[in-house]
Formats: sequence, structure tokens, C-alpha cells
Amino acid sequence: MGVHKIYLKNVEMSWKRYFTAVKTFQDVPSFTAATEVYNTCRMHEAYASWHKEKGTLIRERNKHGNDCLHVFRIQDFNKAYEGRSFNKDLSKGSRQMIQKYRMNNPTKFFSLGNSNRYNSSLELRDFVEFCHFGPERRMLDYQLDFNMRKLILCILNTKNSDVDIFHCLLLLIYENMGHFMFNTSLESLSALGNKEAFNMILALLETSDIMYRSVYNVLRTGDYDLLKKNQDFLYSIIRRYVIQTTNSPKQSLTKLLQNLDMSTEQIITSFIDFFQESIEPVSLTLTWALYHLARYPEIQEEFRRKIRKTVSFPIHKSCFLKGGDKDLLYFHNGEIVDYFNKILVETFRLNYPTIGLKKVLSTSQNIGGYLIPANTLVTTQNQLVGRMAEYFPDPLKFDPERDINYHTLILMPFGFGQTCAASWLAKRQMLAALVRMISSFEISYHYNEIGSINKLYNHPEQIIYLTLKETQI
Ligand code: HEM
Repeated sequence: MGVHKIYLKNVEMSWKRYFTAVKTFQDVPSFTAATEVYNTCRMHEAYASWHKEKGTLIRERNKHGNDCLHVFRIQDFNKAYEGRSFNKDLSKGSRQMIQKYRMNNPTKFFSLGNSNRYNSSLELRDFVEFCHFGPERRMLDYQLDFNMRKLILCILNTKNSDVDIFHCLLLLIYENMGHFMFNTSLESLSALGNKEAFNMILALLETSDIMYRSVYNVLRTGDYDLLKKNQDFLYSIIRRYVIQTTNSPKQSLTKLLQNLDMSTEQIITSFIDFFQESIEPVSLTLTWALYHLARYPEIQEEFRRKIRKTVSFPIHKSCFLKGGDKDLLYFHNGEIVDYFNKILVETFRLNYPTIGLKKVLSTSQNIGGYLIPANTLVTTQNQLVGRMAEYFPDPLKFDPERDINYHTLILMPFGFGQTCAASWLAKRQMLAALVRMISSFEISYHYNEIGSINKLYNHPEQIIYLTLKETQI
């Protein structure tokens, strides 16, 4: 009898343990969002101190009384995404104001744009893929390489050894996107920028700032008017290019889409989104990559050595723009592409493009011992985790030889499940830019270490000036 009692008591205890082990969402350590912290663009610092104080899971209550779960451990990232347990209908907070603008202008736009629910770009994904695998890709490679050579000539002609690299790269990526969509030059690199290109880039950056601010306060005075001014301008220029391209005999993505019965409004809507989604993250990632290579000359030299084994570009200015087919060999060289990928992964680890990814759970999930209900917004803290010693020994060291699986949830710079529509294009542009920059210049950096601030995409907290010295073969 006594034995039975002990047995039953043990069973009861183990069940109790089981039930008490799973806690509810309300039990997760919590913080209330401080609006003034948001305004400083230093959210990652606030999250780091919350994490230090409260641990690996944090419930944040915003001023509207909604809860968001922040996760700081890789195993919890995996849990949050297990079984693709996210809701594709998440309409991104950052897009609310653009959606309002598009609703107020129904004749101009085909849809409310890139958000998962009102997606104008879903159908475009197929065409973008087509460009990746179709015959256009060779042309595109040539063009990306050519634009990069034009940028290098512009830099050489300015005779400034210290270069604000981010702003140069914005002009480059803008030019690349013009070729991608319209198969035409937007002339942004003609004399290091023309007024229209400059204003377009400004409009895209201002829009992006407003999008970030509107996540936290969609009613800020003046923001809608500013967004409207910028969007009206972007619309008018992109519309002009779409119509010009439609009437031109040259093949282009615009014409391809039109032959496939996409309306002018549909193409314009998608192209505004393409510009908005591409220029800033590609230029920023490249800026950080070059900054790290400048601070680690031995890695830069190793990359240069690998490039020179395959291609030797003419360095004299007079023949610089006359490239031959063999100049493009680097796009397909395993050793170069492999090292480039390692540089890219390490750049994303140290400078993740955003704070992290946001997903809404479609079913309830046990995350870190807490039962998190369906429809909870989960933010994975990729920016912080990438710099944690727990996962990466000597985490602040830029070391492309680290053994990182690019596809683990720790990085996911292009998203997960619902991913970037053109990551291949981003990577091709970055490959061309890094190969050409490293073979043309010895790059160094002579100022203080630079941290990042949070915007829609994380930016350097100060302008990064790189010293560029022409290489001699
Ligand atoms: C380093 C560069 C880039 C990064 C880090 C990046 C990252 C991302 C991420 C994280 C998303 C969101 C996925 C989600 O919904 O969760 C996204 C969406 C998107 N990206 Fe990129 N991207 C980059 C470059 C580009 C480029 C060059 C294009 C060119 C067109 C592009 C076009 C798009 C579009 C259209 C979407 C919206 C997709 C949709 O809502 O269906 N991105 N990107």
C-alpha cells in the first residue's frame, strides 16, 4: 500500500512538473516600449540592455496595448519558424502610410504594393526569376560590370582619395536598377550624379525614413505630406521611363511584362517597389563589406589575389571602359564566388540589414518553455545575435573563414519563407562591385570604429569615408 502511495505521489509530481513547466505568454518577462528610445534610432542598444536584464525572451507591450515577443536564442528562432508557422497575411507596419497614399490615388496604382496581403510583386517573382535564368542574364552581367567600371572612372576623376562610399554606391545601384528594368541608362554615373538621379535617390531615402517612423507613429504631423511629395515625384519619373521603354525597340523587363499583359499601372507600381526595396539595402551591405575589407587588409589582399588569378583588368583609364568577354569570367569562377559569399555572410553577421525578422505565428507554439498563442508577432533579434560570443567566438572580428551555415535561421538576411524577390540580383550586383573595387583600389580606413543606427535598414551612425589608392599590377 505504502509503495503504491509513493508511486502515485511520484506520478503526480511528474505530471505537475510537466504542467508547471509550460508557462503562458503573460509569464514572459516584459517591457513597455519607450517611445523616446525609438526616436533615437538606437533600438538595438535598448534591446541589448533588455536582454541583459531580463533574459532570452521578452514580451514588449507597445502603446496600443499590443504584445510582441522578442527572441534572442537561435533555438527559439527555429521554434518560431517551425513548420513555417507564420502567417503570410502579415501586412507590414512600415507600409501603412504607402498603402494609405495608394488608396488615395486609385487610378495611378494597380495595388497597395509589397505587403504580403496586397502583393503586387508575387506575380513579378516569376519574371524576375526568368531574367535570372534566361538569356538576359549575360547582358545583365555585362551591364553590372560596365556600370561598376563607370563608377571607378568617376572616382578616379574626382581625384579625392577619401570617398563617401555609401553615396557613390547609391548612384551605382540606381543605375543598375535602371538597366534591369528599362534596359537603359539613368545617367546617374555620368558625372557622378545628375539632378534627377540625385532627387530620385533622395525621395527613396526619405520614403524609407518615413516608413520606419510610421511603424511607431503613423500620425506624425507632416509625414504623410512629405511621403506624398516623394511618392508623386517617384511616380512621375518612373511612369516616364515605363512609357519611353514601351515605345523603344530594345528588349527590357518593362516590355516583357507588357507583352505578358501587365498594365502600365501594374508595372509602375511594381517598379516603384523594386526601387524602394533595392537601392538602400544593396548600397548599405556593400558599404559595410568595403568598410570591413578596409580594416582587414590581409583579407582584402587574399580576395585580390584570387581575383587576379582569373582576370587581369586593364587599368589604364583610356581602355577601362572597353571590356571584353573574358573580363566577365569572375561571375562564374568558383574560387572568387566562394570567397565573395564568405565575405558577404560575415558582413551580414556583423551588420545585419535590419533589427531582425517579424512574423505572426499562425498556430500557438511552445517557445523557450512558454506557450505563445497564435497571432502573436514575433521578432527574431538577428542584429544582436550575430554579434554574440555565445554563438561566434571573438564575435567582433571580421573573419570570412568562420564556419557559418548561411541558411541557418541565425542570418536570414533575405527573409525566411516569404523572402526577398530578387536576392540573386542583389548578390550579382554586390559581386561585380566588390570584385571591381578590390582589383582597382587598395582600400583603407583611418578613422574611428563606426557603429550602426536603426532605420528601415540599419545605417552607419556616421558617414564612412574610405581611402582609395589606385592599385598597380
Ligand atoms: C542586400 C540586399 C537586400 C536585402 C538584405 C533584402 C532583403 C529583403 C527582405 C528581408 C525582404 C522581406 C521578406 C519578407 O517579406 O519577410 C525583402 C523583400 C523584397 N525585396 Fe529584397 N533585399 C535586398 C535586395 C533587393 C533587390 C536588389 C531587389 C530588386 C528588385 C529586392 C526586391 C524585393 C522585393 C520586391 C521585396 C518584396 C517581396 C514581397 O513582398 O513579396 N530586394 N527583401
